[in-house]
Amino acid sequence: MASYLIIGASSGIGQALAAQLTEAGHTVYGTYHSGTITNTAVQAQSFNVLQDDWQSLTLPETLDGLAYCPGTIDLKPFGRFTDADFTADYQLQVLGAIQAVRRALPQLRKSANASVLFFSSVAARKGYAFHSLVSTHKAALEGFSKALAAELAPKIRVNCIAPSLTQTPLAGTLLDSDEKLQKLSALNPMKRVGQPEDIATLAAYLLSPQASWITGQVIAADGGASTL
Ligand SMILES: NC(=O)c1ccc[n+]([C@@H]2O[C@H](COP(=O)([O-])OP(=O)(O)OC[C@H]3O[C@@H](n4cnc5c(N)ncnc54)[C@H](OP(=O)(O)O)[C@@H]3O)[C@@H](O)[C@H]2O)c1
Repeated sequence: MASYLIIGASSGIGQALAAQLTEAGHTVYGTYHSGTITNTAVQAQSFNVLQDDWQSLTLPETLDGLAYCPGTIDLKPFGRFTDADFTADYQLQVLGAIQAVRRALPQLRKSANASVLFFSSVAARKGYAFHSLVSTHKAALEGFSKALAAELAPKIRVNCIAPSLTQTPLAGTLLDSDEKLQKLSALNPMKRVGQPEDIATLAAYLLSPQASWITGQVIAADGGASTL
């Protein structure tokens, strides 16, 4: 059985990933911030990426995987974003991911099958109006993940999953009525939005030894939205 660290295991995709990994018998170290972790099988710790000292995180001697889940969907016209918006979002989506890797690297290096996983977005690959903030930082995360994959191979694999709209608390205001849900579902080639489990299943696979020849990839889980 393996040990995994999930930064942001209290909601959405991270919560679904923690559920799949603990149900499979793995040990999961998971963090929460404003929410809570109800899965009692998770070794839960409070952690704010924007404030807390990464050294305060309790980790096991060896980690087989790290998943970094904090993200944003802040959509508005480019002219309404300030420099401060871009700086704050960079700190959460990119710098936080970098710091998570730095913290977990000594433990990941001790594993025979270590893997790092980031969450990008369909908006890094395809242009959408009002997405300048999220697109900028998800593209940065994809660049970081590929450089890191090259540098850490063959010891540690690094991949990104790029979801399209997925029904989690993060997508809350976009999907908070039946009308919005139906309208946005109809825009997807598969005629539905994603569910956290759709993304978590791929995440669990990428973290597992079954994916040992997959690294440096950005894999879409988007109902075909990026290509169809
Ligand atoms: N949902 C979508 O439509 C969608 C689409 C494309 C990409 N993605 C990406 O997929 C990833 C997961 O998204 P999600 O929808 O599962 O989001 P979510 O439901 O909001 O979950 C995010 C997780 O990150 C934690 N987190 C947020 N801010 C934090 C901070 N400052 N410090 C520490 N932890 C923090 C949250 O903790 P608390 O809840 O405890 O505060 C939560 O556990 C994100 O990177 C997102 O950009 C999502």
